[in-house]
Amino acid sequence: MNAPDRAGIRQASEIDMSSWWMPFTANRQFKASPRIISGARGMYYYTPDGREVVDASAGLWCVNAGHARQEIVDAVTAQLGTLDYAPGFNMGHPVAFEFASKLVEVTPPGFDKVFFTNSGSESVDTALKIALAYHRARGEGHRTRLIGRERGYHGVGFGGMAVGGIVSNRRMFANSLIPNCDHLPHTHDLARNAFSRGQPEHGVEFADELERLVALHGGDTIAAVIVEPVAGSAGVLVPPKGYLQRLRSICDKHGILLVFDEVITGFGRLGAPFASQYFGVEPDLFTTAKGITNGVVPLGAVFMKGAIHDALMTGPEPMIELFHGYTYSGHPVACAAGLATLEIYGREKLLTRGAGLEQEWADALHSLRDCPNVVDVRNLGIMGAIELAPKAGGAQPSRAYEAMVGTFEAGVLMRYTGDTLALSPPLILEREHIDRIVETIRKVLAGIA
Ligand SMILES: Cc1ncc(COP(=O)(O)O)c(C=O)c1O
Repeated sequence: MNAPDRAGIRQASEIDMSSWWMPFTANRQFKASPRIISGARGMYYYTPDGREVVDASAGLWCVNAGHARQEIVDAVTAQLGTLDYAPGFNMGHPVAFEFASKLVEVTPPGFDKVFFTNSGSESVDTALKIALAYHRARGEGHRTRLIGRERGYHGVGFGGMAVGGIVSNRRMFANSLIPNCDHLPHTHDLARNAFSRGQPEHGVEFADELERLVALHGGDTIAAVIVEPVAGSAGVLVPPKGYLQRLRSICDKHGILLVFDEVITGFGRLGAPFASQYFGVEPDLFTTAKGITNGVVPLGAVFMKGAIHDALMTGPEPMIELFHGYTYSGHPVACAAGLATLEIYGREKLLTRGAGLEQEWADALHSLRDCPNVVDVRNLGIMGAIELAPKAGGAQPSRAYEAMVGTFEAGVLMRYTGDTLALSPPLILEREHIDRIVETIRKVLAGIA
């Protein structure tokens, strides 16, 4: 693929940055020293001055098939010319129905109903609402409590923040979070599990904390437990062996729904289409977004077992079964992008390609364990994390931030979160990209005090 045309592209110094309040960004720090991306193709981003940067984070964990895929460009363009927008409230349009049908062909058996949203945050709030509505419809309206997990990230809606467990997301809004939530402990255990390859050995007992919450609150007050199968935004925290299985069995024992937030792990990130298949643990509902359209047009989706949907299809037929939805639920352009994305995933076997690369990816990442300040390396599927020692007294910016800036300047884009560098390249990556990513990190870490 050729680099994108740079005609008319403005350099960073020519851009007025005063008006856009950037999300999850230290705005003053960024604008004093900006990093600008102006083009993308395949595995690469391009800067306005023509530098090629390997995308080691698939954008924000979403561009699983790589950038600028022509089929998606063509599908979106054609859809815009046919039906640019149509409401989904009391009106239907073919592409949303078609996309829903195609999606449930790739989801695990039994997950044959889908509710469309526009983002991961909306998918989470939607799944929590469906869980509450499901219990209510079955005469168990007393199940109103929602259980999340420390260091869990479920987006920025009030529901997702309330079950989430990232302190900076919660601190500012603490008094306004929805009540009736509690949290499991996180599973990160550096003392016992540092440098584990794949799933760590220790920590299945963290799941038993759910029994303690049941004992405290009463199991019949709990509607749902929501976890990311692999916690992504908190720095790629891989579940200990047996942990998800144990959560599942405790939920079953007490009639609690288990929701997997697969916004990151969905659509091939672990080398299986969905994390539930990788781990062999079935949730009752799961959330998606990001890779569902290759990140090209915003769209999210909640998938659920037929029985959950059917429990709500019981009242008088003229009644709306779920008072919920978005203006853009099932947006035709997003669905067209999603259909083209699914075509690519199927043809190039991207939903399982990661399985064949997982060992190579793990070997390469773990070769960084002796670099300065590295206190842990984690991997699963085509996800990875390099955790660095915090600076004395927690001084900021963190070493991970400095490494993110350094690697971007050296031609590799990755995420940082707290003290951790997080990696999740597009699933089209080849050996040459793995080598370039790892050697760039090695070089940059060598220069960080
Ligand atoms: C697991 C998980 N859930 C929810 C979200 C929120 O998604 P969005 O930013 O699309 O609202 C994210 C975003 O990274 C995520 O990783």
